[in-house]
Amino acid sequence: MSISYTELEAKVKSMIKPKRFIHSEGVASVSAELALRFDLNASDAAYIGIYHDAYRYSADSSSPGFCRSHGLEVFPEEDADPMLLHGALAAIHFDEDAQGRVPDYFKTAVRHHTLGSPDMGPYGAVVYIADYIEPGRKHLTDLDRKHILSADTLEGMIIRIMDMQRSYFQKEGIKEAGISRKLYDFIKAGGKL
Ligand SMILES: [Fe+2]
Ligand SMILES: [Fe+2]
Repeated sequence: MSISYTELEAKVKSMIKPKRFIHSEGVASVSAELALRFDLNASDAAYIGIYHDAYRYSADSSSPGFCRSHGLEVFPEEDADPMLLHGALAAIHFDEDAQGRVPDYFKTAVRHHTLGSPDMGPYGAVVYIADYIEPGRKHLTDLDRKHILSADTLEGMIIRIMDMQRSYFQKEGIKEAGISRKLYDFIKAGGKL
C-alpha cells in the first residue's frame, strides 16, 4: 500500500522549489483531465503528475552512472545533460517515496516524461502532454493549447507538441534527441502508446 495523493503532494512540496511545485500541481490536474477524457484512471494520472519533477534539482554528473547501476538505459543526450535524468531518478525512487510498491507503468511514465519514448505508455503520454500545456506554462498561447487539445488522440497531441518543439529546435539550432525522434516516427507509423 502506497501513501495517499495528499501525502505524496506534501512530500513533493518539500523536495522542490515553490515555482516547480505549482507547475507540478498544474501537471497533476491536467493529467487527471486527460485521463478522464481518454478512459484512463484519473487518480493514477494525478499521482504520477504530482511526482514527475520531484528530482528536478537532484540530477548531477553522478546520475548517469547511478541510473545505469539501477538497470536503466541512459541515452547519449542524458549523458551530455544529466539534468534530463530527473525523470529516471524519480522512477528509481518512486517506491521508496510512495512508501510502497507503485505499478511499473507509474515508473515508466515518469522515466520518459522529459524526452519521450515509444515505450512511455498511455500514462507517460498523459504526463508528457500535461507537462507541456499546464496553465503555468507561459511559452504557449491559449490558441496553441487549443490546437494541441483538439487532437483526437493522445498520440495526435504528442505530434502537435513535437511539431512545435521541432520548429523551436530548428530556430535555435538544437538537435532533437534520438529517443524523441523514435517516438515521433513510431506515432507517425501508426504506433499506439
Ligand atoms: Fe521534468
Ligand atoms: Fe515538468
